[in-house]
Amino acid sequence: MGATGAVGSTLLEVLAQRSFPTSEVVPLASARSAGNKVGFAGEELEVRELTEDSFQGLDLILSSAGGTVSSEWAPRWIEAGAVVVDNTSFWRMHDDVPLVVAGVNDNAVEGHNGLVANPNCTTMQLMVALKPILDAAGIQRLIVSTYQSVSGTGRNAIAELRDQSEAVLKGERVEPKVYPHQVAFNVLPQVESFKNGDDYTTEERKVMGETRKILGLTEAVGISATCARVPVVTGHSESVNVQTERELSPEECRELLSGTDGLVVLDDPRDGIYPLPIAAAGRDEVLVGRIRRDPSHERCLNLWVVGDNLRKGAALNAVQVAELLDQRDLVRVPAGASLA
Ligand SMILES: NC(=O)c1ccc[n+]([C@@H]2O[C@H](COP(=O)([O-])OP(=O)(O)OC[C@H]3O[C@@H](n4cnc5c(N)ncnc54)[C@H](OP(=O)(O)O)[C@@H]3O)[C@@H](O)[C@H]2O)c1
Repeated sequence: MGATGAVGSTLLEVLAQRSFPTSEVVPLASARSAGNKVGFAGEELEVRELTEDSFQGLDLILSSAGGTVSSEWAPRWIEAGAVVVDNTSFWRMHDDVPLVVAGVNDNAVEGHNGLVANPNCTTMQLMVALKPILDAAGIQRLIVSTYQSVSGTGRNAIAELRDQSEAVLKGERVEPKVYPHQVAFNVLPQVESFKNGDDYTTEERKVMGETRKILGLTEAVGISATCARVPVVTGHSESVNVQTERELSPEECRELLSGTDGLVVLDDPRDGIYPLPIAAAGRDEVLVGRIRRDPSHERCLNLWVVGDNLRKGAALNAVQVAELLDQRDLVRVPAGASLA
């Protein structure tokens, strides 16, 4: 669902790359792109419009068509017998919905009510880096500043960055459409929107709330996030300051993270070796580097975490969750399940 979008097209790519077992793959989108073709495993599949008939008989729906579509349609997909892995933010904080980062909290898929939510892309890569630290040394406080790429907003934002970059280089006027300001050659300290008089953005609230839910952190753990949009096509970067309960040296942290599946430590800064979004784009692993002691606190470490927001941040994790469901025989809607 959302097969023509930035996440949806990556989903099709990842499903094929990982040879996810399927008897039929049905790309769904809106009437706008019905009839268009999308690539899957060397074939061209015709996009179908999302209608009541289009999903009957499907076992699993990987959804990335925005929160409005998921809010309205997910209960109907579940009623029709399909298990949903949802990339949108709509159901993530719902009490009856597991929010799962594969490799971090796999067991949360057990007892799903027909829908498993995929976390926000910014939260996702952070969880991969923090889980080993949490398990080894506990976490007392977390301060995260993000530098997020435009593909996190979808295909229109990628086009906007390209168009604006060309316009600026030609000395032409720039008309922002997707973002409130010009994003080319700029940094915007606003990712998503400010709602209900809040001085944090909805993205910052997601990072803080989802982190707490996935890692099971109590209110006693302080979390603070600042999210910025930068003119990068793909790959979110994060500066992470983590205060642990027990002291963890940078060397121990480096060793711990080096031995974690799905993480690659690139940390030789004097030789220019550290994670970069252009190196993370297209990769499945989350990259971590610049691991160092915060000089202001003996139990704080600073890290630089970079991941491909479309792969582990969205499509790859959704497929890994689907694989978990398949391996555990959980691709079935439990009797009486509903999302109230
Ligand atoms: N981009 C990321 O890094 C990322 C990461 C994690 C989660 N997400 C979430 O994933 C969702 C999609 O993001 P995206 O970046 O892929 O956006 P996108 O590139 O703008 O794609 C949106 C997709 O949704 C479809 N769609 C939109 N409205 C629809 C409707 N009313 N009915 C049916 N299909 C509809 C579009 O189909 P048409 O071609 O027919 O318009 C398109 O396939 C969002 O909720 C986003 O928050 C994105």
